[in-house]
Amino acid sequence: MAGSRKPLIAGNWKMYKTSGEGSVLVSDVVDAIRGTEDDVEVVVCPPFTALRSISTMIELDGLSIGLGAQDVFWEEEGAFTGAIAPRMLEEFSCRYCIVGHSERREFFGETDETVNRKVQALFRHDITPIVCCGESLSVHDAGNAESFVRDQVRGGIAGLTPEQAATLVIAYEPIWAIGTGRTPVPEAANDVARAIRATVGAMYGPPAATAARVLYGGSVKPENASMFFGEPDIDGALVGGAALVASSFADIVHAAR
Ligand code: 13P
Repeated sequence: MAGSRKPLIAGNWKMYKTSGEGSVLVSDVVDAIRGTEDDVEVVVCPPFTALRSISTMIELDGLSIGLGAQDVFWEEEGAFTGAIAPRMLEEFSCRYCIVGHSERREFFGETDETVNRKVQALFRHDITPIVCCGESLSVHDAGNAESFVRDQVRGGIAGLTPEQAATLVIAYEPIWAIGTGRTPVPEAANDVARAIRATVGAMYGPPAATAARVLYGGSVKPENASMFFGEPDIDGALVGGAALVASSFADIVHAAR
């Protein structure tokens, strides 16, 4: 991690936890990460149905934890059954929204173009996108991870201002590392993180590249987190499975200090 960028640890709960279960998890997490506020930014991204209860907890109890959604639609409102608009996330003080997770690309037809429309829509509402990218095992094995990820990032973050680009969070999540227990060696993850940062720089200039945060995601656990956080271009983690267990998530937060 580089000194000027505040580490960010975000928990992607995926399709786990009801609203009630989510409230319990958040209060356990908050207890376990007490004292880390100044050093690490912590965000939870629960399912849509838990946003209201957790947002109320954050507001009433003054919790030092941020809230994010896992997806959004790009239109302001309209006849789009099942979709959620940025304004609806804004109402619950969502600071962040994950966009383009590989599971959304695989199961819900997300493309770099739809990712980009969502990213632009979020910025219109001052919600920071956490833009996901990452290669499949076959792309990885062919040695093409960096160029594949650069293309994904170029498409996903097109059409922003340099000021917007500077606030971006980009999560590098190799698909073969998600939920598998397999991870790249930290140096290899950092090489891709550096390539992502260079892409931001080529599009929006060096200040944006220096300010944007790049996270690593894919089987991050308390046992391996500090290895990734020791890398200069990795500014934190997007955590899946380990974010569902308060003590594991908290250990990862502590490792980022
Ligand atoms: P795991 O941490 O369960 O591998 O999931 C990573 C992920 O997809 C986070 O978005």
